[in-house]
Amino acid sequence: MKELSLNILDIAKNSVKAGATEITVALTETGDALDIEIADNGCGMKPDFLAAVTDPFTTTRTTRSVGLGIPFFKMESEMTGGTFRIESTHEEDDPVSHGTVIGATFMKGHIDFIPLGDVISTVTVLIQGDDQIRWVFRHRVGEKEVFLDTDELKAVLGDVPLSEPEVVAWIGDYLKEQYEDAGLPVPASGV
Ligand SMILES: Nc1ncnc2c1ncn2[C@@H]1O[C@H](COP(=O)(O)OP(=O)(O)OP(=O)(O)O)[C@@H](O)[C@H]1O
Ligand SMILES: [Mg+2]
Repeated sequence: MKELSLNILDIAKNSVKAGATEITVALTETGDALDIEIADNGCGMKPDFLAAVTDPFTTTRTTRSVGLGIPFFKMESEMTGGTFRIESTHEEDDPVSHGTVIGATFMKGHIDFIPLGDVISTVTVLIQGDDQIRWVFRHRVGEKEVFLDTDELKAVLGDVPLSEPEVVAWIGDYLKEQYEDAGLPVPASGV
């Protein structure tokens, strides 16, 4: 994929499809490493399915037999000398605390590193697409942090849906301002 923000979109959409009501997207930059983790409380996966899910021929899609979201994410991290991890608990095995955590570390200095790209748009697209879900976004760079929790926004907005175009635009600006205030580069396409 052209930008890691598109991988994030894909992995988070899996969480939406899994019926999650809470999804956290966490980016952590430490030195040369960028770690991306997507955690959800969706239906989860059975152990044997989980063991096979990094294989592109594992999918529950009906429109085509190959699922590529997870294998791409894994491959693109490992290409940079980074690592991939996945943990999942199926709802039948644990009706209370089921869900999935997928994470990958990317080495930014590696020639095969794909830029993060416009993660602000990814977050606003995800929120707009499924505004009933509690979305938590966190981007840490060393000691600096950008943070958004849609539950906090809902408490302020009351009945106004998060998917209203004005609200979506506001969320984008709010994130952009947090990057600027923290002295961090604002994520953008091609960067
Ligand atoms: N967060 C998740 N919770 C539960 N099941 C998941 C989750 N993520 C992936 N899966 C399961 O793993 C399968 C493979 O996911 P993957 O993203 O690799 O491919 P896909 O979503 O099937 O297709 P594509 O991403 O190429 O459109 C999914 O079809 C789904 O059954
Ligand atoms: Mg997918």
